[in-house]
Amino acid sequence: MKKVLLALLSLGLLFGAAQAQTIRVAGGSVGQELELSRQLAQMYMEQNPGVTVEIIQTPDQTDDRFAQYLQIFEAQSPDIDVMQLDIVWAGQLAQHLVNLYDYEGVQGIADQHFPAIVEANTVEDQLVAIPWFTDAGILYYRTDLLEKYGFDGPPQTWTELEEMSTAIQEGERQENPDFSAFVWQGNSYEGLTCDALEWVNSVGGGQIISPEQVITINNPAAVDIISRAAEWVGTISPTGVTGFAEEDARNFFQAGNAAFMRNWPYAYTIMNADDSPIAGNFDVSPLPAGENGESAATLGGWNLGVSRYSTNVEAAVDVAKFFTSQEAQKMRAIQGSFNPTLPALYEDQEVLEAVPFFGSLLDVFTNAVARPSAPTGQQYNEVSRQFFTAVHNVLTGNEEADVALELLALDLQDLTGFETGEPQAETGSAQ
Ligand code: GLC
Repeated sequence: MKKVLLALLSLGLLFGAAQAQTIRVAGGSVGQELELSRQLAQMYMEQNPGVTVEIIQTPDQTDDRFAQYLQIFEAQSPDIDVMQLDIVWAGQLAQHLVNLYDYEGVQGIADQHFPAIVEANTVEDQLVAIPWFTDAGILYYRTDLLEKYGFDGPPQTWTELEEMSTAIQEGERQENPDFSAFVWQGNSYEGLTCDALEWVNSVGGGQIISPEQVITINNPAAVDIISRAAEWVGTISPTGVTGFAEEDARNFFQAGNAAFMRNWPYAYTIMNADDSPIAGNFDVSPLPAGENGESAATLGGWNLGVSRYSTNVEAAVDVAKFFTSQEAQKMRAIQGSFNPTLPALYEDQEVLEAVPFFGSLLDVFTNAVARPSAPTGQQYNEVSRQFFTAVHNVLTGNEEADVALELLALDLQDLTGFETGEPQAETGSAQ
């Protein structure tokens, strides 16, 4: 009986292998993500007629996506083969992902990407995801409005941003009551960790927890800038900004209701599309700096890993290789302004023509500031949750920044066991 079952099983496996395989790729749908993933799936299937690639949509907000993946992993479910993974997750999810270095050609592929991104996806010498696209926070600004109100260029400092915002908003509100000068990601989620890290870092206030595992967030510069951001809410930013994620900010800005927006590069191409009300009337620049600091952009980005519970690991790795290939990254750069992780594409004329700021802001992308996921490893999401909750409490007026950061430092100490201390001079340099 057992033998018969085994024979049937292996026959089934053989039969299955000869039949079409289905590889499910879980990813996002922020901006044009979903559409572009479907295009890549189509391209792959044309080249590999034996394989069906299905794109599975997961929640836009990174924290929600993480929770969904964890459920799938904890159930050891084979339902998802390839997954889009946030750059801050490698340490937390490595145990559920295959070591991609075990598969043919991956070492050579990894060598072509920005070393720092490969490093961020490496846990104990194992490659848990192949770099797919990188991200860094940038400032979008309306060129037509700057001109209308007599400003020469985008704000260099937060003070300039506040001054320009006040002037432009005062004028625009006469005609458009929905106008609010500056939008960003103020909801209580990972996106706020990214925005608030930029504020804090731009005034010399460190990286929340330093790469040397020192909790540095409770410092006067950080207190000041977070209090200042709280003052933006309901003045130069809409009250509702404390509920905004990336797409809320983009929709607000794209509708013509703001002069400035902090967002990731993906918003560029979509806002320049023919049907966009602001097409041709905006540009991008580095984020403003603090008076005594330097502009800072948080390092983001997504990478493709293969689940250990996949029943088609070989085919899944092949799909991940194709999705992250130069051909695929070029297509995504041109059509969706997703930043390649391959330095070679920053010298590609077609890419630079479609997205000129990939060239002009290259420094921003290569010097982006990392969130403290490396020093905190398995605890990163909890560290970030405590940070964005504290900042959100200040933004919504529930707590003063000095108290919030003092309590945060104590909570982080309880959680991590790390010492507290002063931020050191800037570290930067992500790539
Ligand atoms: C972007 C970044 C990602 C970050 C997220 C926060 O998707 O690429 O790294 O965690 O935004 O909302």
